[in-house]
Amino acid sequence: MATTISPLRVDFEPKNSSLNAADINTTGAPLNLLKLLNLRPTTVPIPPLPEGVRVVTTAEYKQAAACLAEAFAEDEAVRYPVDTPDRTHWTEQEKWDLHVEILEYVTYAHILKGLVTTVGDFEAVALWMPPGTNMDDYLTMFQSGMWRLNYRLSAEGKRRFFTEFLPLLHDMKHGTLGARDDSSWYLVYIGTSLRGRGKGNASKLIRHVTSQADKDGAPVYLESSNEKNPPIYRRFGFETVRTVYLHRAERNVELDIMVREPVRGEKK
Ligand SMILES: CC(C)(COP(=O)(O)OP(=O)(O)OC[C@H]1O[C@@H](n2cnc3c(N)ncnc32)[C@H](O)[C@@H]1OP(=O)(O)O)[C@@H](O)C(=O)NCCC(=O)NCCS
Repeated sequence: MATTISPLRVDFEPKNSSLNAADINTTGAPLNLLKLLNLRPTTVPIPPLPEGVRVVTTAEYKQAAACLAEAFAEDEAVRYPVDTPDRTHWTEQEKWDLHVEILEYVTYAHILKGLVTTVGDFEAVALWMPPGTNMDDYLTMFQSGMWRLNYRLSAEGKRRFFTEFLPLLHDMKHGTLGARDDSSWYLVYIGTSLRGRGKGNASKLIRHVTSQADKDGAPVYLESSNEKNPPIYRRFGFETVRTVYLHRAERNVELDIMVREPVRGEKK
């Protein structure tokens, strides 16, 4: 449900505030720049696609993010940096726009560095971090637009996102998986649009990766932010290993940390 990104301080104002991630050429960063930053394009093999599941491209990031924005419209953890006491003067529309914007940045970063899959006409979308990958580098921060959160979030929003939410999730994942952290799949977000629910869409996206994880003997990790979801995830073999809380809102936001151990043989 969240990422391994770390706070990024940017000390200049954007020249063109309407610039969005799609405006940046991401078809391949200049090789000399990649070399300079000691970065390599992601080379993690993508599991073969079962019927109906496909990989989202950079050209489609807005549609994918729109699906997630709808799915997580009322999710307390996803809205945690948006619905802050120092933004009570904002209209619902302004908050919604920021909610969508955050999901666009996160989706774009996962298209660049992870794996984003969808099914149907963006009826469901999943953001994955395959084993050994993360989006914790400056180039991805810039290309995805994520750096803009430094001025788009309120002071409290930044405290929540950068100093509580991200470090907590990072530490929990590492603390839970230990040496296996680098060889695990991470289900960062999965959401089904209202019209797509109950049709097996999320199942297809989850099984696409869990079947590969089983072949590789890899665990799959996620944080669930909604009490309705652990029973759903248990159907796919996930178990809750611990529960953590975000403390800065009026009431604590609960997150269930769930891990799915690889299954050998026929059973999935
Ligand atoms: C959770 C969510 C992704 C499920 O998406 P979906 O496409 O409707 O799920 P599926 O139709 O593939 O169903 C998956 C399984 O969960 C079960 N399920 C789905 N919705 C359920 C519900 N509301 N209550 C109980 N079980 C449910 C299904 O029966 C199915 O199990 P089965 O294959 O054994 O029958 C979707 O409800 C959603 O987007 N919720 C809001 C966002 C969210 O909380 N995402 C998870 C964040 S951690």
